[in-house]
Amino acid sequence: MNLCLILTVLLLLVIAVSQHDAVNTYSPSDADNLDVILFNDGSFKINVRGQTWLTSANMFFNSNGRTYAQWRDLILSNIDKINGYDTTGTYKQTTYTFEAGPSKVNAAVRVYDAHPIVYFTQTFENGANRTKAASPINKTISGFPSFQVKGVTTAQGPLGYLAYCGYHTGDKSKAFGIFSPTELNITDGIEFGPITLFDGSGDTLVISSASKFMSVNNWFNKDGDKSTLSYGIMGGVDNVPAGFSVDFIVYYSSQGINQAYEGWGEHLRGLYGRSDEFIRNDLTLNYLGYETDNGSYYYYVVESGKTYQDTILDVLDYAKQLLIPYRYIQYDSWWYFKGFGGGVKSWEARPDIFPDGFQYVHNKTGLPSLGHNRWWSNDTVYAKQNGGQYNFIVESTTGKAVPNDQKFWDDLLENATSWGLVTYEQDWLNVEFDKVDALHSDVSLGDTWLTQMGKAAAKNGITIEYCMSPSRHIMHALQTNAVTQTHASNDYIPGKDQWEIGVSSIFAYAMGIVPIKDAMWSSTIQPGNRYNKTEPNTELQLAVSVLSTGAVAIGDRIGYSNATLIMRCCNAEGLILKPSKPATAVDDQIYQTALGGHYSNGVEGHVWTTYIEVGGLKFGIIFVPDIYGVYSITPTKAGFRNIMTGKQMMVFEARDMRNMSAFSDQAPLRISGCIKSKPCTYHVTPVLTQNPSILMLGELTKVVPVSPQRVTKIDVTGNDVKVYLKGVPSEGVYFTFSIDSNIVTISCTFGNSRTAVLDVTAKTCQ
Ligand SMILES: *[C@@H]1O[C@H](CO)[C@@H](O)[C@H](O)[C@H]1NC(C)=O
Ligand SMILES: *[C@@H]1O[C@H](CO)[C@@H](O)[C@H](O)[C@H]1NC(C)=O
Ligand SMILES: *[C@@H]1O[C@H](CO)[C@@H](O)[C@H](O)[C@H]1NC(C)=O
Ligand SMILES: *[C@@H]1O[C@H](CO)[C@@H](O)[C@H](O)[C@H]1NC(C)=O
Ligand SMILES: *[C@@H]1O[C@H](CO)[C@@H](O)[C@H](O)[C@H]1NC(C)=O
Ligand SMILES: *[C@@H]1O[C@H](CO)[C@@H](O)[C@H](O)[C@H]1NC(C)=O
Ligand SMILES: *[C@@H]1O[C@H](CO)[C@@H](O)[C@H](O)[C@H]1NC(C)=O
Ligand SMILES: *[C@@H]1O[C@H](CO)[C@@H](O)[C@H](O)[C@H]1NC(C)=O
Ligand SMILES: *[C@@H]1O[C@H](CO)[C@@H](O)[C@H](O)[C@H]1NC(C)=O
Ligand SMILES: *[C@@H]1O[C@H](CO)[C@@H](O)[C@H](O)[C@H]1NC(C)=O
Repeated sequence: MNLCLILTVLLLLVIAVSQHDAVNTYSPSDADNLDVILFNDGSFKINVRGQTWLTSANMFFNSNGRTYAQWRDLILSNIDKINGYDTTGTYKQTTYTFEAGPSKVNAAVRVYDAHPIVYFTQTFENGANRTKAASPINKTISGFPSFQVKGVTTAQGPLGYLAYCGYHTGDKSKAFGIFSPTELNITDGIEFGPITLFDGSGDTLVISSASKFMSVNNWFNKDGDKSTLSYGIMGGVDNVPAGFSVDFIVYYSSQGINQAYEGWGEHLRGLYGRSDEFIRNDLTLNYLGYETDNGSYYYYVVESGKTYQDTILDVLDYAKQLLIPYRYIQYDSWWYFKGFGGGVKSWEARPDIFPDGFQYVHNKTGLPSLGHNRWWSNDTVYAKQNGGQYNFIVESTTGKAVPNDQKFWDDLLENATSWGLVTYEQDWLNVEFDKVDALHSDVSLGDTWLTQMGKAAAKNGITIEYCMSPSRHIMHALQTNAVTQTHASNDYIPGKDQWEIGVSSIFAYAMGIVPIKDAMWSSTIQPGNRYNKTEPNTELQLAVSVLSTGAVAIGDRIGYSNATLIMRCCNAEGLILKPSKPATAVDDQIYQTALGGHYSNGVEGHVWTTYIEVGGLKFGIIFVPDIYGVYSITPTKAGFRNIMTGKQMMVFEARDMRNMSAFSDQAPLRISGCIKSKPCTYHVTPVLTQNPSILMLGELTKVVPVSPQRVTKIDVTGNDVKVYLKGVPSEGVYFTFSIDSNIVTISCTFGNSRTAVLDVTAKTCQ
């Protein structure tokens, strides 16, 4: 009977997206290349350029203690087709109504006319009880869309995948490979993340959740040829309220992985009104800081015979001697009270740590604070259950707790402003979510938790840094503008490859969150350190920190800082001179990792790119921390389509500015010999005037020699170039130009006006 139904499937409608794509101006035909074919039983195919990339598998919904599956006991009762429009644009939507036992569930497919976007929506019209059935937390209690996992071969070769999985912004267990039942190897369930499919030609699909980010999972049911990948409400949920609905998105781009993520992110940020206001004003993102977290010298370590209070003050005295302008201090988990199982009992300073109190330390340092926090223990003093003032869910089964009270967050963060809190670091986000039963059994508690935290931060003018965050929290931040930054890899360990954030930065950047590298040492040897390690690649550490657009955070021992190296980040008052977007791995790096021998133009190692926009001009940076063999990169491969705007571009390596070459798709740059201890940084710079030929190389002692934090305007009139600069009173800078291939360096010293105008022709600066 079921078989019969499958065999008699009719081609009911074909929705082919046909109009031009308006959001992503780089590819007007993107919507044309994506077809969704729907059948009258609710099954579907997603085609790219006429070839099927994704085929639906059995959809299912749990209710009443069992699973109702398509073609078995899930009864299709209605099909409804509408043309509609929303803030994204006009669309065609087909809604299938099913009876899953007592539950009425709608499964809708919405295809936008002019955007390469497909939505899948599940709505539990009258809710569902006893949905947990046999699902442990990492499965799902519903599946729509469900995809068959089977190998697909396009004209280019097999489809590959990149999946963000695990914590640290999906970096921890990110996976690459061929999309097939044997090779798909992802972390599914509560630590799942966006998945990308590609064939190396540029065609790319991104599949992810699109709403209720804290309530959904994916589930990879590995079963040979019958393997499936399902999206739905997370497996721990036992009750779904009436009207509850969840969305998933499939987004297509013809322009490769970076562009697909940018387009996908732009769409979702627009949908949720994500704003970068908090990022622009975030002191801990804009200025140099000092850190005491895991990997730093003073992580649960103090100077011999001293308290933490004195150690912190001594760090700042030492920094003052070296003119290192730290602008905030990160206080890690060592200062507050722990309770059962190491969770937080009370987020107050311990008197043995700060004998005169946190406010005293704050007053003495004169610096704002970045305060670390972890998960709550079940004996936390704040919970009413333990005699406190606030509503918490307290679990003696897990030994943990979660606040469920806006006032708690409001008070916690307001109280912390007394010791200068400007950024709240919520660490252990995976542990709090994964290990508190209520957070994965209650369908909306996760959302409540993070929303309350975000609102309290916004009310108090505080930003939030996420650490150990699975992808779900990162996507939830689309709704929480105060979340500005996220750790994009493991905790810092001197000498280890913790700096490899080029791939996770693609995801963070798409969500409008700044990826951060964590602390670093500025000199190789920090005697007596608790890790028994050295850091041979200090230049690399600093460059990655700056190019992330995130924190530049030093964790040195007193007496062991390299001020020359540190100051490559910043101006004289610690303002970070940064690029316009986080540096991200080029598509070729990801194609190579995923497709291996099936892709012939890849690069083994790390090649990341970013750009800088200053007063209408654009400059590129190709950062190569580590590479094997030779790689030829063009502006297109570098993702520089948007910076090649008519002007002729030249490229040079930072250490070798006399050797300049033209850079265009016809004149690629050949890269080789870049290693971790001597990473390469190639600067791409426009020819400003032709006769003489003037190029601005900028402030070559900095990682980013031309940045909006230093250069406010570049005036090119005829053959005359004037550069408007800003800086700190009495700060001196050297700006380098190439004039008809001669290297000319002009020095400027800022006065109290903090500005200077550099005249290239006159070789003056005043
Ligand atoms: C869920 O349980 C409630 C309370 O027993 C009941 O009123 C409701 O009809 C049930 N809903 C479904 C869809 O089974
Ligand atoms: C669920 O997934 C998490 C994160 O990947 C993992 O740590 C945990 O062991 C899994 N739980 C079960 C019950 O499989
Ligand atoms: C899946 O990935 C994990 C983590 O990278 C690895 O340890 C394991 O061997 C892989 N399994 C397969 C079947 O490739
Ligand atoms: C910190 O400084 C504030 C303002 O100057 C002052 O009111 C307060 O008493 C000081 N607190 C401590 C503990 O030094
Ligand atoms: C916390 O949980 C542990 C075990 O999970 C339990 O032994 C203890 O009594 C609980 N404490 C409180 C205050 O609930
Ligand atoms: C905030 O401070 C007030 C006044 O000291 C105190 O009563 C309250 O418990 C504190 N709340 C939190 C969450 O820190
Ligand atoms: C410190 O970082 C290392 C490396 O990332 C990690 O293995 C270790 O678990 C971390 N320690 C803590 C307490 O987080
Ligand atoms: C520290 O590292 C060195 C070199 O790797 C090793 O020889 C030594 O045994 C280590 N010391 C300790 C205390 O682990
Ligand atoms: C400090 O850093 C600079 C810039 O990277 C480097 O040239 C210098 O050798 C370093 N000094 C020491 C003592 O390592
Ligand atoms: C000059 O640059 C080109 C391209 O960047 C490179 O192939 C060549 O090796 C460089 N020559 C020197 C002397 O560094």
